[in-house]
Amino acid sequence: MIYLDHAAGTPVRKEVLQTMRPYFAKEFANPSSIHETGQKARKAVEEAREIVRKILHADTDDKIIFTSGGTESINLALQGVAHRISNCRIITSTIEHEAVLETVRKLEKENFPVEYVPVDEKGIVNLAALEKILTGKILTSKNNLNSSIFISIMYVNNEVGTIQPIKEIAQITKRHKIIFHTDACQAGYEELNVQKLGVDLLTLNGSKINGPKGAGILYARKGIALEPLFYGGGQEYGLRSGTENVPAVIGFAKALELMQKEGEKENEKGKFKLKKLRDLLTKELLKIPESKLNGHPSELAAHIVSVSFAGIEGEQLVRHLSEQGIYCSSGSACTSKKIAVSHVLQAMHVPEKFARGTVRFSLGKENTLQDIKKVVEAVKEVVEVLRKV
Ligand SMILES: Cc1ncc(COP(=O)(O)O)c(C=O)c1O
Repeated sequence: MIYLDHAAGTPVRKEVLQTMRPYFAKEFANPSSIHETGQKARKAVEEAREIVRKILHADTDDKIIFTSGGTESINLALQGVAHRISNCRIITSTIEHEAVLETVRKLEKENFPVEYVPVDEKGIVNLAALEKILTGKILTSKNNLNSSIFISIMYVNNEVGTIQPIKEIAQITKRHKIIFHTDACQAGYEELNVQKLGVDLLTLNGSKINGPKGAGILYARKGIALEPLFYGGGQEYGLRSGTENVPAVIGFAKALELMQKEGEKENEKGKFKLKKLRDLLTKELLKIPESKLNGHPSELAAHIVSVSFAGIEGEQLVRHLSEQGIYCSSGSACTSKKIAVSHVLQAMHVPEKFARGTVRFSLGKENTLQDIKKVVEAVKEVVEVLRKV
């Protein structure tokens, strides 16, 4: 099998599995128990939190909240902030993951005014449009300039891989005194230093970083008030009640540490293996007539290649490749049941004839040059057959 769907899910690294293993059956106690074995579990959870804090360069007063994954962290960030600020205006982009868009739609139904920043054809958020929204030059019906503002812009887009200029956005949000959340679920290899990035809230997801599913974090800068999503025993600063998922927490921290180290090492050597494979795959696929790369040519995540082929259905290509043991995606995995053209490609104004024939290949550390060569040959063949049909 050649697995090229890492943006949907990654295999757990063996080192991560090893770190997690003792906490299922041996050190299984509840970290809130005051006896010795409970305190061992507590120590492990707090050590994991410190690992994450160090990676993010978070201050000691900042919060690292362990959650069940990207969707929960995003909901806690968005609903958590909105429900603490009355009259809060919410700004987001048109290419966010459904976890953000659906949460924002829910808040809109609760009468929070929402504005969407457009992106260019490479998927980069239009900063001039953002400034205009902030200074009221673009007015929507519910726009109320006196209300507090909360913005959520993703770091790396899950469908096309475009990396947003987070630091530049943060400069704007600081100037306008806006709370800034970034969904960094696909940004495991990117810079995650929150001081350098300038974000107030940041979401990460274990299942995208060779860690366990059902694990994630929300980073919250000191002073950001959040309303919990649910109530109970008051774990995780009172913001995420419920007994901690100790193995998942520990696995998450280990996975993040390994992915960040690997990214740094590869970048230092100046030859990021994943980027080399990504670039080769892109170059070869674009040799197919009537093909098109989606996403930014340089501001692109190391693991994502989104290519469109005119005259075919992306979904059919994915199915044919699957029959040959090559696994990829026709859009983001979470929306692959819907046949409609993805909201991301629509927002980027990808012409429909290309948008419908879009395939996302997302690479992982186990992929090889051989894999890429085989995939290129298979895609060429299947596209030709599908076009004839
Ligand atoms: C960018 C992004 N945000 C959020 C999520 C949601 O993560 P989960 O479904 O694991 O909660 C995903 C998952 O694909 C994602 O890619």
